[in-house]
Amino acid sequence: MSTTSVDSPAQRKKITTRSFVQKKQRSEPISVLTAYDYPTALALDRVGVDSILVGDSLGMVVLGYENTLPVTMDEMLHHCRAVARGARYALLIGDMPFMSYQADVNDAVRNAGRFLQEAGMDAVKLEGGRERIEVIRAIVGAGIPVQGHLGLTPQSVHQLGGMRAQARNAAAAQRLLEDALLLQAAGCFSIVLESVPARLAEFVSQRLEIPTIGIGAGAGCDGQVLVTHDLLGLFERFTPRFVRQYANFCAQMETAFTAYKADVEARTFPAEEHSVEMLEDEWQQFLNEFGA
Ligand code: KIV
Repeated sequence: MSTTSVDSPAQRKKITTRSFVQKKQRSEPISVLTAYDYPTALALDRVGVDSILVGDSLGMVVLGYENTLPVTMDEMLHHCRAVARGARYALLIGDMPFMSYQADVNDAVRNAGRFLQEAGMDAVKLEGGRERIEVIRAIVGAGIPVQGHLGLTPQSVHQLGGMRAQARNAAAAQRLLEDALLLQAAGCFSIVLESVPARLAEFVSQRLEIPTIGIGAGAGCDGQVLVTHDLLGLFERFTPRFVRQYANFCAQMETAFTAYKADVEARTFPAEEHSVEMLEDEWQQFLNEFGA
């Protein structure tokens, strides 16, 4: 008997931005994880994760940058395409990289459009509150679903003075609530709340019609997102406090690579079953013609 909870293809329906809102209305938690490549997208889609975010965390956990600021549109689109080839059902969200939407509204709409037109995404995400209303309206006006992102917004790391929890005093909490309501009014279909107090996130979630997706924002959000490399123990530089690590892939990789190296050095790999053979008479003919 199978113990897997994976739905058969016949039972599966593509998750849309509408399903996101319906899930909130039914009080069903929304599961989101990041992916940056085809095999991870295949695995996430197979287990029925609601949404895959191709986050600009790509820059840190895959490309080895210090933070998310150097990530470019081309890098994002390249990885979005790989994810789109692996996922059929999950709602696919592409993260707009730093400076792809901040400087000019028309450029922002064009860049957002590229995620859908060239990279198979269903929606885009961008960071910021009241200062992004004009750009969100324009992107939504072009028919492109937008997910907002409030609280700790990593593209503003220098302005925030580091990767630290946000909205921890009454004034900042009020500002975050106002921003969330403004993003909803501007047409966002959901909002990521990152590193904010759990009771504030729950309060905000209850006041919104659109779902909140929390990361380091407690259990009162309508859904949760994690960076997959954190969950898998595949990013060692640091692990935020809010991460639950479900596996230790770094340790597993090292074990496998060490065993491979030892096998190569001991000449126990490749073995016979890994090798291609040649018919004996062909070999003899070869030796007759070219052998010493
Ligand atoms: O880039 C990313 O992965 C994100 C999530 C942490 C929400 O923005």
